[in-house]
Amino acid sequence: MPASSCRSPSQAASDTLAEQLARAMSAVAVGSEDLEKIAAEESAASVPENVDPVYLQRNGLLGGGGYASVWLTTDVRTGRSYALKQLRKGVAVHLNFTPRCILERQALEAMAHPFITRLYTTFQDEANLYFVLELARGGDLFSVQSAQPNYMLPESWAKFYAASLSLALRHIHSKGFVYRDLKPENVLLDEHGFLKLADLGLSKKVGENRTYTQCGTEEYVPPEMLKGRGRTRASDWWAVGVFVFELLTGHPPFEGDKPSDIFDQISDYASAGDQANQRLGDLLVQNKVGASIPISMECSLFVTQLLRAEEHRRLGCAAEGFLGIQQHPWFVDFDWVALLRRQMRPPHVPAPASKPFAEEELEPQVLKLLPYDKAVHDREFKKFGPTCIMGSKI
Ligand SMILES: Nc1ncnc2c1ncn2[C@@H]1O[C@H](COP(=O)(O)OP(=O)(O)O)[C@@H](O)[C@H]1O
Ligand SMILES: [Mg+2]
Repeated sequence: MPASSCRSPSQAASDTLAEQLARAMSAVAVGSEDLEKIAAEESAASVPENVDPVYLQRNGLLGGGGYASVWLTTDVRTGRSYALKQLRKGVAVHLNFTPRCILERQALEAMAHPFITRLYTTFQDEANLYFVLELARGGDLFSVQSAQPNYMLPESWAKFYAASLSLALRHIHSKGFVYRDLKPENVLLDEHGFLKLADLGLSKKVGENRTYTQCGTEEYVPPEMLKGRGRTRASDWWAVGVFVFELLTGHPPFEGDKPSDIFDQISDYASAGDQANQRLGDLLVQNKVGASIPISMECSLFVTQLLRAEEHRRLGCAAEGFLGIQQHPWFVDFDWVALLRRQMRPPHVPAPASKPFAEEELEPQVLKLLPYDKAVHDREFKKFGPTCIMGSKI
């Protein structure tokens, strides 16, 4: 995005009432289908790149998750940089997540959205599976939170990230997938500060159906899952409620030392119905959850309407669908089109990482070279992508 196309905050502040009204009217006139069309246009404008792994050079570690290490790589022919997500085949076999790697590839291939990391190609070598992904240079939102006092972000930041994330999830849902792995560590920023949702490792194509597999981070598990009813795409909107609460207050609404404590909290909250929901909203507005400045009524409403135990009453899932989010009072006067076109100035421009992620910080299993039975498993790995030696033509 050219920097000159950013609308400066001072311009926004000096808007006349008529301009503000016009913007609010146009926001209402833009339906949620139109937002999908604009996202498709924006995504098509950045032409998928033809990456050949034989020209890729590894430059350092960007981060790691429970399964993968992610490396900064550069195509020596073009100078372009990518994120290379690497998974050890032996680890995939031992942890039984080979099918998940194939599903992650399929999910990423189905997506084309400015706020979701794009997949350029996949390949494998003797010991690893690799995804070549669009690079999000700004790090993850957990790191952004860590740099703020008490891990709390201002409400205006939370609003920008909530809107961007909602658009990304709407796209994932429109392709029939449920995301299932929301947490600040999986929400990345590009160098300008625009959001890039990463890690579709738990995404699953469900359409209108329910899915029953236990997965995702405990704090983000929706109550329907704990009741044994499985989950739908509605579970992602519950997770957005948890996520925004966490950005604002520095901690999730349901916490505990062990998973069972967290699950008890979620279940108790859900059984207490509207009363507990109201209490959570009051706590937010009255600044009793540690927020440094009071949180607006509209913002608190957004969070509590997402954190409704009944899926049919949850914001984003009730009859009005995504329009419920788009036209929510918290987003009155919010320019969704400018956000999608990346003509809105992000609230925070990430500083370039001061030091590379250290290999010692990775989860111990991630880089382990575990033996596995090739005769049994290589047939499954074949579905992942072609075999080639990275950097062999440099
Ligand atoms: N496209 C990317 N650009 C920059 N960093 C990334 C990218 N994808 C992942 N990372 C970094 O690597 C970490 C782990 O990646 P992730 O896909 O979440 O792996 P896992 O499936 O093991 O959780 C992320 O939290 C982030 O810090
Ligand atoms: Mg992850």
